[in-house]
Amino acid sequence: MSQMKHIDNTPSTPGKFKIEKSPYNRLRLQFSLAKIIFWSLVFVGLIFVFFYRSPSSSSHVSSDLFRRSLRTSSYGGPAWEKKIKASAKPRSSNGMCVLVTGAAGFVGTHVSAALKRRGNGVLGLDNFNDYYDPSLKRARQELLERSGVYIVEADINDATLLKKLFEIVAFTHVMHLAAQAGVRYAMENPSSYVHSNIAGLVNMLEVCKSVNPQPSIVWASSSSVYGLNTKVPFSERDRTDQPASLYAATKKAGEEIAHTYNHIYGLSITGLRFFTVYGPWGRPDMAYFFFTRDILKGKSIPIFEAANHGTVARDFTYIDDIVKGCLGALDTAKKSTGSGGKKKGPAQLRVFNLGNTSPVPVSDLVSILEKLLKVKAKRLIMKLPRNGDVQFTHANISLAQKEFGYKPTTDLQTGLKKFVRWYLSYYGNGKKSAQ
Ligand SMILES: NC(=O)c1ccc[n+]([C@@H]2O[C@H](COP(=O)([O-])OP(=O)(O)OC[C@H]3O[C@@H](n4cnc5c(N)ncnc54)[C@H](O)[C@@H]3O)[C@@H](O)[C@H]2O)c1
Ligand SMILES: *[C@@H]1O[C@H](CO)[C@@H](O)[C@H](O)[C@H]1NC(C)=O
Repeated sequence: MSQMKHIDNTPSTPGKFKIEKSPYNRLRLQFSLAKIIFWSLVFVGLIFVFFYRSPSSSSHVSSDLFRRSLRTSSYGGPAWEKKIKASAKPRSSNGMCVLVTGAAGFVGTHVSAALKRRGNGVLGLDNFNDYYDPSLKRARQELLERSGVYIVEADINDATLLKKLFEIVAFTHVMHLAAQAGVRYAMENPSSYVHSNIAGLVNMLEVCKSVNPQPSIVWASSSSVYGLNTKVPFSERDRTDQPASLYAATKKAGEEIAHTYNHIYGLSITGLRFFTVYGPWGRPDMAYFFFTRDILKGKSIPIFEAANHGTVARDFTYIDDIVKGCLGALDTAKKSTGSGGKKKGPAQLRVFNLGNTSPVPVSDLVSILEKLLKVKAKRLIMKLPRNGDVQFTHANISLAQKEFGYKPTTDLQTGLKKFVRWYLSYYGNGKKSAQ
């Protein structure tokens, strides 16, 4: 707010400049009025230049409203565009150029880094919301910055900005990972799911269909669309019309919305149904992550049990395997067929499971963590609440295997070892603990 206070300090109080009668005084008054106007113009000009040139200055501004107005007036500027172009420039002239939404997120960070590493152009986009500790998102951002990936701080609902990005860079692909994740939080804040997973997705697709050339789109759906299904393993053609949470319902809606944009506008769209992704730089709201934190703190951890002591199990999938799946989907994505907002011919529409094909009971997850952390967990066996979580997930991955050779290679034991090593180094052996 310091800039705003400055504005208030300019000598504009009328009381300070009383109208005086003598001609000499009138002359003096006119002279000082001219001076005031001159300096005010200079000052306004300076403020304008300041806002225009420094989009990143918004981070230390406290008022959200002010930040938003600052942000919309700060898009652009040669320095900002230069950063975007440098980040999005592929190593070879005909290389892939990818806009990654949700780039400061868990999966987004890993995918962005992998794309950049193999020479693709990558630009990130993220709104750095505080669904979980934003300092973890900032740390991931620093990691990406060091490898040459710039993240634009914005919401996927900002159509003006998205269009502007497409004017600066002709993205060949969009890797759309920005979303409101989490199953149980949907009961606390349902509108955040509608905002990001439905309105945001539609806004994203609206911009993609209208730009020329249209990019190919790969986006994250979720294994949660299988909902109350009991037939295992889950195959892509199984029914997905019984979601058990609002989160799942918004992902399912996303798949139907994707169908519409493919059908009407010729957008090439691939949906990926991720199965419980875990690994270094992971999400603090997920069980493997807060179990680790709470075991180290000596806090008891809730382990859910289904009716009749049934085990709750998850098809845990290691992040590196998911990244390979994302790259495989991008590499096999065909071009969109529309232009100028009009469809020219049928376009590709796909959905793939990306899982590990070996469900592990949550109690086994805890046993592995105990061994790795060398701390005994205080287990609290509880009934699985009917608020969104399903009893088990198990992916049939033969479709992704056939289409792009997807083959997960990391078992839970190996993957958790890498996660725990990262966790201890990031949080300093549990002394500075995760929130
Ligand atoms: N991690 C998993 O186990 C898992 C499982 C199934 C599906 N998914 C899906 O994969 C994607 C990535 O998940 P993740 O685990 O990396 O989650 P994440 O929360 O770490 O990443 C999502 C990122 O998107 C950003 N974001 C959210 N809403 C936004 C908006 N309106 N505008 C701009 N940015 C916004 C967030 O700030 C966050 O950094 C999500 O679509 C998620 O639903 C994840
Ligand atoms: C797995 O999915 C494929 C289709 O991709 C299907 O042909 C196969 O029968 C499924 N396997 C099982 C065990 O359900």
